[in-house]
Amino acid sequence: MRSEVGESSWPSLNEKNFRSEHATRNGDRLILRSPRPDDVRALLDYVNSLVDERKDDPDIGIVIDKKKTEEEEKEWLSELLGKIREGRAVAIIAESQGRIVGMLGIRSGVSKDESHHGKLYITVAKNYRNLGIGTAMMSKALELSKDIGIRTLELEVFANNLRAIHLYEKTGFIQVGRIPKKIQRDGKFIDIIMMWKEL
Ligand SMILES: CC(C)(COP(=O)(O)OP(=O)(O)OC[C@H]1O[C@@H](n2cnc3c(N)ncnc32)[C@H](O)[C@@H]1OP(=O)(O)O)[C@@H](O)C(=O)NCCC(=O)NCCS
Repeated sequence: MRSEVGESSWPSLNEKNFRSEHATRNGDRLILRSPRPDDVRALLDYVNSLVDERKDDPDIGIVIDKKKTEEEEKEWLSELLGKIREGRAVAIIAESQGRIVGMLGIRSGVSKDESHHGKLYITVAKNYRNLGIGTAMMSKALELSKDIGIRTLELEVFANNLRAIHLYEKTGFIQVGRIPKKIQRDGKFIDIIMMWKEL
């Protein structure tokens, strides 16, 4: 059973927390907001549904291959919230129809030399793709990245993931390299394209 996200528990909106309302391409309300500690159950359902999806679609650009436990998700979320508080990460939760339907994260480099540079990952839930949710999250992410001093971003995408490549190019990323056969799945190799953007 999926976990509903309660509307009553919004975190206080300070400089590290945000919440904005949008609409999906089919007219549903879309909320983009900061993650919060009580998202654990809903995020666990979300990430494990992505792992399930890999069974049906071996080409899908989802690299996590093992379902998480609630304890692991709690630890992951707590670490993420800590990084956000320190200004070293950006995270966006997309919510529609009372559930988490997307997630975007950016981590800045660990060393001082790389602190201006972020790595981005994004996913949208299966039944909510092609509705503009990815585009809305990317736009918000670029704004939030600047706020924490990120000046350049990179990401990796499967070469066969034309929808994702389209989204990234639409939001200003350029292709800067290709790693042949980085992914091996079910005996088949997939190349990775590296993309980069200056903010
Ligand atoms: C990739 C992903 C994050 C995009 O999010 P989304 O909410 O579906 O994206 P949007 O609806 O905002 O935009 C999708 C765009 O791709 C276009 N598109 C869809 N299928 C396409 C295809 N086969 N080739 C090219 N473009 C395509 C859509 O027309 C739309 O472009 P437009 O806004 O210019 O019309 C999402 O589909 C997803 O999570 N996919 C599975 C996991 C994944 O691939 N994650 C990315 C890993 S790098």
